[in-house]
Amino acid sequence: MSRFSQPQDSVFSALNASIGFDWRLGPYDIEQSRAHAKMLAATGIISDGDRDALLGGLDRVAAELDAGEFPFRDDDEDIHMAVERRLTEIVGAVGGKLHTARSRNDQVATDVAMFTRAHALATIQSLQDLQSTVLGVAEAHLDWAMPGYTHLQRAQPVYLSHHLLAYFWMFRRDERRFESVLGSTTELPLGAGALAGVNFATDRGLVARELGFASVVPNSIDAVSNRDFVLDFLAAAATCATHLSRLGAEIVLWSSEEFGFCEVSDAWASGSSIMPQKKNPDAAELLRAKAPRVVSRLAALHGVMHGLPLTYNKDLQEDKEGLFDVVDTLDLCLAAARGMLSGITFRRDRLADAASDQMIAATDVADLLVRRGVPFRQSHGIVAGIVREAVASGRSLAELSREELARHSPVLDDEYYSVLSQRSWLESKVSEGGTALDRVREQLAHARAELDGQPA
Ligand code: ARG
Repeated sequence: MSRFSQPQDSVFSALNASIGFDWRLGPYDIEQSRAHAKMLAATGIISDGDRDALLGGLDRVAAELDAGEFPFRDDDEDIHMAVERRLTEIVGAVGGKLHTARSRNDQVATDVAMFTRAHALATIQSLQDLQSTVLGVAEAHLDWAMPGYTHLQRAQPVYLSHHLLAYFWMFRRDERRFESVLGSTTELPLGAGALAGVNFATDRGLVARELGFASVVPNSIDAVSNRDFVLDFLAAAATCATHLSRLGAEIVLWSSEEFGFCEVSDAWASGSSIMPQKKNPDAAELLRAKAPRVVSRLAALHGVMHGLPLTYNKDLQEDKEGLFDVVDTLDLCLAAARGMLSGITFRRDRLADAASDQMIAATDVADLLVRRGVPFRQSHGIVAGIVREAVASGRSLAELSREELARHSPVLDDEYYSVLSQRSWLESKVSEGGTALDRVREQLAHARAELDGQPA
C-alpha cells in the first residue's frame, strides 16, 4: 500500500533522488545498521534470531556493495532505501524490522557524521605527510638566500628554508582545524527518530560505543537538524585550500623566466600544444585555482542552512555533493602539493642573485643609525635619502663614498659598508622566529618535534 494515488513524476524523482551521489555512504549505512540491529536485539525489541538474519543479510549487501555488484534499481531513491530494499530481497520480510525505532532523518545524519569523521582523519594524515615533505625541502635549502617580499616588491632577504617553513605552520594549523572537526562528530544522532525520539526503550549508548561515538546527541530535535560537522569540515577545507592556493601561486611565479627561482619536475609539468619550448607548472596553477571551488561549497551550505526551520527538511540533502566534492578535491590537492614539492628544483644562483640586491638591506642601514642613537623614524628618512641618491646616480648603496654618506648623516662610518656585505643582512635577523640561521635551525627543530610528536 502507498499513501499516494499517482506514480511519482519522473522529473520529480530525478530532483528528489540522492542515490546518484549518496551511494558513497553505503559502507557507513551498513555499519550503522549492524550496530542498530544489535541494539534492537540487546534491548529485546527484536529477537536474537531476527538480529542474526539481519546481520547475515547486511553482510551480503555489504559484499555486493564492496564488489560493485549491488543491483541498484531505477526507483531506489537513496542509499538508505536501497540497502533496506536489497536486504529484504535477501532475507525476506524480517528485513523490514531493521527500520524499527529509526528514521531516515537520524540515519542520514549518522551516516554523514561517520563519513565526515573518517575523512577528517584521512585529511589529518595527508596534512602530516605534506608537512613532512615541506620540512624536508626546507631542511635541504637551509642557507639558500632569497629576497622576501611585501607587495611583491623585494623587501628583506630571507632564507628559502624560512620561507618554506611558513607553509609548514600553515598546514600545521590546518591539521588542528581538522582535529576540531573530529570533535564535532563525537555525538551520535541515531536514536532521535524522525525528530522527537522513538516509541521504544532503545539503548543509544550501546550504538554509540559500537560505532565509536563518544556520546549521544542530547536533544532529538538538534540531532536531526544539525549539520555543523559538515560546515566545520568545509570551513577547515576552505582555509586549507586557500593555503594550498598561495603555495601554488608562488610556485607559478617562481617558475616563470622572470623569477627563475625554481623548476617543477617533468612529472609535474605539461607542454604546450603549439609552443614546443613551453613547460607549464599546471599543477601549481590548479592548486591556485581550486580554493574558490572549495570555499563556494562552504558558502553554498551556509546558504542552505541559514533560515532553515527545524528539524529535518529535504534541503539538508544538499549537504552531500558539496562535502563529497570537497573531500575529493582536497585529497587530490594535498597529494599533488606533496608530489610537486618533492620533485621541485630550486635555482640557488637565481635566488642569490635576487637576494644580493643591496636595496633590500636598507632597513639594516636604518638600524645601524638606530644603534648610533638616531631615532628610528629619523633614520628611516636618512636612508630614504641615501636610496634616492643611489638610484638617481645609478649606483648600488655600497658605491656611495664616505663623503657622500657624511652629507646624509655624521654618524655613518665604515660599518655602513660591512652592513651591506651580503650574509650580514640575513644573519642580523636574530629575533625569535626570524631568518638568522640559528633561528631557522631552532624553528626546524621545533617543527620536527611537533611533527614527530604525532601519533603515527
Ligand atoms: N536522502 C535523504 C537525505 O539525504 C535522506 C533522508 C530523507 N528523509 C526524509 N524524511 N525524506 O537527506
